[in-house]
Amino acid sequence: MINIVFVATDGARVTVQGRAGDSVMQAAVSDGVAGIVGECGGSMMCATCHCYVDEAWAGQAGARAEGEEEMLESAADEVREQSRLSCQIKPTQALDAHCHSFAKKPALTIFP
Ligand code: FES
Repeated sequence: MINIVFVATDGARVTVQGRAGDSVMQAAVSDGVAGIVGECGGSMMCATCHCYVDEAWAGQAGARAEGEEEMLESAADEVREQSRLSCQIKPTQALDAHCHSFAKKPALTIFP
């Protein structure tokens, strides 16, 4: 299992366990992380999985996938340099991904 840390806009943190091969979005949705919806199931058709990857991990999260940039343009929140579709990030055992959720809610809702 891989630890994935989500940080809400108010600074609240939640760590979820992801399985190798699954996306960051899948781990977030499985644990009910607020602000990560994953409406299209990861087929890059919705941008409801938008997150900001911590700068320290940006290089290890990989480059944006083909078409990801265009889909990010429809994200509800500001698109920044570190914006990613979390469905396109596949954390490996070597990388404990560190994502900043774009949730506008004051706190993350699920603490497993
Ligand atoms: S889940 Fe729809 S674009 Fe990522």
